[in-house]
Amino acid sequence: MKIGIIGATGFVGNAIYKEALERGHEIVAVSRTRRVEEHPKVKIHQETIYNEKALEKVLKDVDVIISAYNPGYFHVDLHNRYIQGYDLLVNLSKKLDKKLIMVLSATSLKLPGGAAMEEDLSYPAVLLKYMSGAKAVYEKYVNDMSFKWTMVSPAAILINGKKTKKYVMNTDTIVLDAYGDSSKVSVQDLADAILNEVESPKYLNKRFTIGYK
Ligand SMILES: NC(=O)c1ccc[n+]([C@@H]2O[C@H](COP(=O)([O-])OP(=O)(O)OC[C@H]3O[C@@H](n4cnc5c(N)ncnc54)[C@H](OP(=O)(O)O)[C@@H]3O)[C@@H](O)[C@H]2O)c1
Repeated sequence: MKIGIIGATGFVGNAIYKEALERGHEIVAVSRTRRVEEHPKVKIHQETIYNEKALEKVLKDVDVIISAYNPGYFHVDLHNRYIQGYDLLVNLSKKLDKKLIMVLSATSLKLPGGAAMEEDLSYPAVLLKYMSGAKAVYEKYVNDMSFKWTMVSPAAILINGKKTKKYVMNTDTIVLDAYGDSSKVSVQDLADAILNEVESPKYLNKRFTIGYK
């Protein structure tokens, strides 16, 4: 398949990029810098998503778009910039009729028992602040069935680890391990789950999360 990856230079996006290459896919990589390694199956576009015309041209013949966009954890207006970025990507997905896989955050997930993540006092307040934009994007588009999307709410904090394939998937409730923790999920396992969704879609217009039991 031909996969558009927004943010292929980032922590999450680069793991997705590597997993997609390992599976033999063609990639159209979009980010403002060119920090991904060159490969015959990759077209690198040094472009901002805010250049709508250019982005449309670059992504017009991909099969699916995966976004691991993040304006930067220290962006002065992170919350609004996150929403603005996703508004553009959603509009593009609608216009081109391409499925958009959005890697958001765990902040909109529920705890086992049904309470919102914000009510968990052990969840770092700084993360809630960083990722309030991702939660707002989730709330804005979760009921929008006018385009094809899958939202991904990874574990609270991802680590650079190994692909174990030993993860459990869920839709709206965070997956916690035996110690009640969700902070040690590898970004490689997340990339594996996302590429599985690309190849064999099971979460059309749904959200998923992953974790270890
Ligand atoms: N890191 C974690 O532990 C974790 C945990 C849970 C969820 N997540 C979620 O995963 C997503 C990605 O986070 P991350 O940690 O991978 O962030 P990151 O490392 O900062 O990567 C963000 C990516 O977005 C790109 N980008 C930023 N502005 C852009 C623009 N205007 N146009 C094009 N590309 C742009 C960056 O590339 P350039 O700078 O080269 O443009 C970079 O590739 C976020 O939604 C985050 O909530 C992350």
